[in-house]
Amino acid sequence: MKPLSRVRVTDLLEKKRSGEKIAMLTAYDATMAALLDRAGVDVILVGDSVGMVMLGYDTTLPVTLDAMVHHTAAVVRGVRRALVVADMPFMTYQAAVDDAVRNAGRLIQEGGASAVKLEGGRSMVDVVKRLVDVGIPVMGHVGLQPQSVNQVGGFRKQGTSPEQADAILADAEALQAAGAFTIVLESVPPQVAQRITGALHVPTVGIGAGPHCDGQVLVSHDMLGLSDGYIPSFVKRYAALADTVVTAAGAYVDDVREGRFPEVSVAASS
Ligand code: KIV
Repeated sequence: MKPLSRVRVTDLLEKKRSGEKIAMLTAYDATMAALLDRAGVDVILVGDSVGMVMLGYDTTLPVTLDAMVHHTAAVVRGVRRALVVADMPFMTYQAAVDDAVRNAGRLIQEGGASAVKLEGGRSMVDVVKRLVDVGIPVMGHVGLQPQSVNQVGGFRKQGTSPEQADAILADAEALQAAGAFTIVLESVPPQVAQRITGALHVPTVGIGAGPHCDGQVLVSHDMLGLSDGYIPSFVKRYAALADTVVTAAGAYVDDVREGRFPEVSVAASS
């Protein structure tokens, strides 16, 4: 079988130039990653949303670097084509640039990711510069930054005042100047995302940021209808897999209890 050509960070820049939108989804295990890869997703993000989606936490803050390495390695084993980007979890890059380099290095070397993502704007410039200098591609993330949930008082829309919108634009421009190859814009008004997208030469990927970004990202469990909890209003549900799973498992339970599974084969009983 001819190997599929891998998506590289340079392909995303090319997509922005040609106007082709970037499709990105999250995955946390090899099975889901393989399915999303087969569907043609360009970028698979091993998000620290793993903490809320898979591990039952209320926020992303308890997610550890070891957990991210573990889930990243699983995703990479499932993927043949997509670019795999791993989130740097809370407190693995904020305290010191050297920590950030060592920790990002683990996601690349042990996890097998091709790039890392980190939250923050102008305050992260030194970290981004250093990571890019040592050969680690960095995806930025501004607007709503879930790792700052305690600071901003919840998972709230950002950039709703002109001052906030200007600050987010300044953050995005600083990340671009530091060498980030793509910037996630989370929960900002569509017109703010449009302004930032127009101002940057690197792509923007939006989540809850309207249609004008260069690409879109969703948490796959949300768009597949696999999450039982709160789903943000901007999410489009493309399937209702939770219902499918509950119906199938319920049918299995009934079959086992009623003796319909396993079926008795004539050959085995004679
Ligand atoms: O952790 C995550 O899944 C993310 C996306 C929501 C962008 O950061």
